[in-house]
Amino acid sequence: MKDEQTPSRARSSADFPTGFLWGVAAASYQVEGAVNEDGRGPSIWDTFSRTPGKVRHGHTGDVSVDQYHRYPEDVTLMRQLGLGAYRYSIAWPRVQPDGSGAFNQAGFDYYKRLSDELHRQGIKSAATLYHWDLPQALEDAGGWPERDTAYRFAEYAAACFAELGDYVDMWITLNEPWCSAVLGYDIGEHAPGHTSKSKGWAAGHHLMLGHGLAVHAYRSLSGTAGQPGAGARATAPIGVTHNFETPRPATLHPEDIEAADRGADMRTRFFLDPMLGLPYPERHFAAYPEETPPPVLEGDMEIIATPVDFLGLNYYFEPVVAADPEHPEGFCVVDSYHETTDMGWPITPRGLSRQLHWIWDHIGGRCPLYITENGCAMPDDLTPDGMRCHDPLRVQYLREHFSVALDAIEEGIDLRGYFVWSLIDNFEWSLGYAKRFGLVYADYINQRRVPKDSYFYLREVISGAEAL
Ligand code: FCB
Repeated sequence: MKDEQTPSRARSSADFPTGFLWGVAAASYQVEGAVNEDGRGPSIWDTFSRTPGKVRHGHTGDVSVDQYHRYPEDVTLMRQLGLGAYRYSIAWPRVQPDGSGAFNQAGFDYYKRLSDELHRQGIKSAATLYHWDLPQALEDAGGWPERDTAYRFAEYAAACFAELGDYVDMWITLNEPWCSAVLGYDIGEHAPGHTSKSKGWAAGHHLMLGHGLAVHAYRSLSGTAGQPGAGARATAPIGVTHNFETPRPATLHPEDIEAADRGADMRTRFFLDPMLGLPYPERHFAAYPEETPPPVLEGDMEIIATPVDFLGLNYYFEPVVAADPEHPEGFCVVDSYHETTDMGWPITPRGLSRQLHWIWDHIGGRCPLYITENGCAMPDDLTPDGMRCHDPLRVQYLREHFSVALDAIEEGIDLRGYFVWSLIDNFEWSLGYAKRFGLVYADYINQRRVPKDSYFYLREVISGAEAL
């Protein structure tokens, strides 16, 4: 489609604003391995991946790419790529094995070692507090549908701020709370695998409440945002990462435009509006009177609306939505007719532009944006000599999305950085190791890392030698 073509003017990373942060992103359970070491407790993903039939081929994160032991090698790969930041996540059960009560110093020490290594190699440390590995003990007590989990999260977050405040340059409270809530408690495709709508929306609310409480706790360390306090340091910016969907209408007919707008309700407005002091979207619950709306108590919405320093967006593709009078909410997702990645996700770089504009307009430009994840799975394989991996489709995917990001900046959006998912192939949740998202190929048999062509492409982009 013409709409999705790459703009032709040759530009380079030098066209991005000074200080633009190039990074890669990963998550603890997906890369660390070492699930039984140094006092780490079990998480819902340990339990889920060991439950027959939940993860393809019965794969688990027990070893993965063993980053817990091999982080110096991985950080070196990042430095050689020219990266400015590594977005990793802290495994809650590593630092607080039961999700409440005692903390585990050995867990904190791992993230100190990782951050020290990053800093030694000139790379910023961007920590996500929750990328889906809830301590199993908290799930046993009801998990995210239970209000208490939000308070436990805030307590864990406060301990991380105190212990790791001198090590972390950028904090992200949650990664994609939609996935934790809906995939985890409503659809059941992710841990802990429940299938209950009311649990899903209750989980969504408590995740956002936990986020708000954590930001609130962070602010109280310093009193004023950005001012160091007497005790723990609270100078690094803090935000949250979402995987919003802002669908494209199938046609420009008013009913399809309205359908696309409704399509953003539960995936985007549910998680964004409370941060802006707005209520949860009412249209959805009006269309489904049998669903229980989130259990909001007095004061919750004010806590969720505690201001953040930035908003992180994970963007992979843009769905297309059409009006459908048969559907209770009046819309359905239709085929987009684009080429797809190995996940079956359509390749829609212009959708990134539309989403950035949608979000920027919706938040009224009140805080900067980061792309905290973008990338693609492709059916990568090593060359017969095992020394290279040619992934031209990933190079093209990245080139097109980088170019759109630069357009957005030139159009006035305050986009501060771009994190590619991911440095190395890793455990792709319920799909196990079957999907490869890395710039570096992981040979899971012998833990060899083989940089793919896209790794060298990104290196040239960051150095400015390669046009976008
Ligand atoms: C995102 C997740 C991340 C990874 C990518 C492919 O939804 O945040 O952990 O699995 O998808």
